[in-house]
Amino acid sequence: MCCTRQLRDTIFSIKLVFMNADELRSKYIEFFKSKGHAQIQGKSLLPENDPTVLFTTAGMHPLVPYLLGEEHPAGKRLTDYQKCIRTGDIDAVGDPSHLTFFEMLGNWSLGDYFKEGAIEMSFEFLTSPQWLGIPIEKLGVTVFQGEGDIPRDDESAAVWKRLGIPENRIFYLPRKDNWWGPAGTTGPCGPDSEMFYDFGKEPCGPDCGPGCSCGKWMEIWNDVFMQYNKNADGVYEPLTRKCVDTGMGIERTITTLTGKASVYDTEIFAPIIRGIEKAIASGEGGPYTYGAEGSGSSPAALEKDKSVRILADHVRSSTFILGDPKAVSPSNVGAGYVLRRLIRRAVRHGRKLGITASPAAGGRLLSPIAEIIVDQLKGPYPELQENRAFIIEELNKEEEKFLETLQKGEHEFEKLLPNLLKDPRKIMSGRLAFKLYDTYGFPIELTEELAAENGLTVNRAEFDEAFKKHQELSRAGGDQVFKGGLADHSETTTKYHTATHLLQKALRMVLGDHVAQKGSNITAERMRFDFSHNVPMTAEEIARVQDIVNQQIQRDLPVTMEVMSLDEAKASGAMALFGEKYESQVKVYTIGDFSKEVCGGPHVEHTGTMGKFTIQKEQSSAAGVRRIRAVLE
Ligand code: ALA
Repeated sequence: MCCTRQLRDTIFSIKLVFMNADELRSKYIEFFKSKGHAQIQGKSLLPENDPTVLFTTAGMHPLVPYLLGEEHPAGKRLTDYQKCIRTGDIDAVGDPSHLTFFEMLGNWSLGDYFKEGAIEMSFEFLTSPQWLGIPIEKLGVTVFQGEGDIPRDDESAAVWKRLGIPENRIFYLPRKDNWWGPAGTTGPCGPDSEMFYDFGKEPCGPDCGPGCSCGKWMEIWNDVFMQYNKNADGVYEPLTRKCVDTGMGIERTITTLTGKASVYDTEIFAPIIRGIEKAIASGEGGPYTYGAEGSGSSPAALEKDKSVRILADHVRSSTFILGDPKAVSPSNVGAGYVLRRLIRRAVRHGRKLGITASPAAGGRLLSPIAEIIVDQLKGPYPELQENRAFIIEELNKEEEKFLETLQKGEHEFEKLLPNLLKDPRKIMSGRLAFKLYDTYGFPIELTEELAAENGLTVNRAEFDEAFKKHQELSRAGGDQVFKGGLADHSETTTKYHTATHLLQKALRMVLGDHVAQKGSNITAERMRFDFSHNVPMTAEEIARVQDIVNQQIQRDLPVTMEVMSLDEAKASGAMALFGEKYESQVKVYTIGDFSKEVCGGPHVEHTGTMGKFTIQKEQSSAAGVRRIRAVLE
């Protein structure tokens, strides 16, 4: 018996060691399809109608309206893989586990199965030899320990026990560990049960358990039991139906299953890192092998490995942001700003590694790495291939701009140098270093390097203080957005959502059929609508559009919804968003005899409840795109 078991474990560990991301992705989807789930399309990285987040941060993100009660056209059981960006921990990237871009596998129950069904399926996928085949002894699970009116989750614990997880491998943890959501300030949330892999190390102390960072445990999956909607007043209202939302990070799970010490050591990163090594070898730094010297490496080698990881991660996220159907370019605001930061940080680390951009690749540093990423992931994400030229062009453009910034900064430094050298202590003030950063975008690390080359040190404490103050100021404004969160799906935002449809139709009537929605952003206070149109609207056109919308509100038109195939929807004349990916079955919202659009909802039932519609501003948004700001009162 012992030997059969050992043999079985050995077979499973060999199988797991060879598991790759493509295999995990397809096994997961196949498993949940076999359990009656419809596979839906992962969505854009840039959420529609959600002003409180810049990026899609989890698989549940595009599904929030459905978790809150909307019917989904594909049914009550869904599964998908979703590209995600989380930049909250950007400064931790380079350690063994942090990434700004990752893929999340998920399955959802919209008022169908709940705790028991979700846990049974998770258990089967993880342990059945037909699927992952992880030995039960390698697993540990956590459940919510309860707080206030919300009781300890004995129900989940009992299911785990019945399935074979021993009692001493079930851990009860507080809210900070076992409660998920809302993703922002409001939205669906609930207690969760998380699954961990035990690497078999000795516990680091009496309190060592899942969640401990000693390296014994790694989280691989999270089953969230969505039961509440946290509303704008901070009250937890019970959801109209109980839902399940689960998330399994592909990169982390592959790291765990294949027994690697870091996400960067997996097959997912191997081709990217080989590409970086090649670029380093052809640059002035000479040959370099990532991780060659092991954990006993010199600090300089570890520093280099870290730069390789940052470069690999940041090019991956930049490639996916640029490759998204809702194309974003580097800029100084919002998602474009995050993209700019990612690209510039990647260039900086590339230069640090001595990559002097190979002439064979047109003198570019990042784009040859992006090509590798596009080739690697164009199967599951065909948009990367479709937007390949745009990705490469934008990376090259931004790289060039940044190199100019660096040159300017170096020039400014040269000008300051004679005075700096007069200081008997050979210290450059932090205030001056901050000025180079603030005015020219010159990174502090480069100022320090130039200073060191000239026998100077920078007063880093003073720089950090100025930098912190600056960040606090800019955060005060951008906090909402950077924290990541979801819009308040209140009655007001629902009204604005319906107004978006009325406005689009009215614009097409007044300006012509070339008008198409390019973006929409709704808060509880106003709506913004971007659309294709080449010239400013005249005052008369604005007044006509506004009147048409108000007439439809006064007519108190009924809003109805039908589910049909995308082809039927298009044939029926329904508008759909260009470049958006749709399921085969879609929802079509019809507003009286006035408008018909493919849309996830939610919408008001009658337009008469919407109030008075006023266009406050009409301005340019980008080349060939106008933006309208409007309110309902
Ligand atoms: N939404 C859950 C998470 O991101 C599953 O962990």
